[in-house]
Amino acid sequence: MTIISPSILSADFGKLGADCRTVLDAGAQMLHYDVMDGHFVPNISFGVPVLKSLHKNLPDAFYDVHLMISHPLQYAEAFIKAGATLYNFHLECEDDIQAAIDAVRALGCKVGLTIKPGTAPEALAPYLAPLDLVLVMSVEPGFGGQKFMADMMPKISALREECEKRSIDIEIQVDGGISAKTIEEPARRGATVFVAGSAVFGAADPAKAIAEMKDIAANCQ
Ligand code: DX5
Ligand code: ZN
Repeated sequence: MTIISPSILSADFGKLGADCRTVLDAGAQMLHYDVMDGHFVPNISFGVPVLKSLHKNLPDAFYDVHLMISHPLQYAEAFIKAGATLYNFHLECEDDIQAAIDAVRALGCKVGLTIKPGTAPEALAPYLAPLDLVLVMSVEPGFGGQKFMADMMPKISALREECEKRSIDIEIQVDGGISAKTIEEPARRGATVFVAGSAVFGAADPAKAIAEMKDIAANCQ
């Protein structure tokens, strides 16, 4: 299965609802919602109220919420009430990871963990079993439109092997610099969910861009 999750960081915020509807109609199965707090990463994006409005307008969409924030635990309830389908935070955050996973689960939400480029995939091992998704960043988090880091790809193979060895059924997501030019390698190594911001919202024809990425990924999975 190939899932494309367009990062709305690259959308036109003046017409966010319309842009999101366009990419969903174009074949995207999720909306990737990048939350930044200006502390965990050197940038600030958007938070709970914007998600709440989007969810009100597009209630059936899958909201893939990527928390680039230092304290995801204290905001879990608010984001989940606002419509998060998946609450995905960083292993490098300042909260107790297991406590945060348990809290998200108790709130009835899917849960994911992300690693930055400097973090080894083995660090995820103690948490893998109860997760719905792990995210391997292929750029330093903080900004859209950065260059894909191909040297992160062995992490995807390592995680896929570890999950197979332990019979853990999990989505592996990759985020940063994904386009038709870069999607093949992560797909071949076992990624199933592909975040793409500039490659989708920056495309003249988002439907064509999504279809092309899906085709390439499906052919090598
Ligand atoms: C980076 C974000 C990404 C980013 C992806 O900090 O987590 O989701 O918006 O954008 P592109 O696909 O343009 O690299
Ligand atoms: Zn992201």
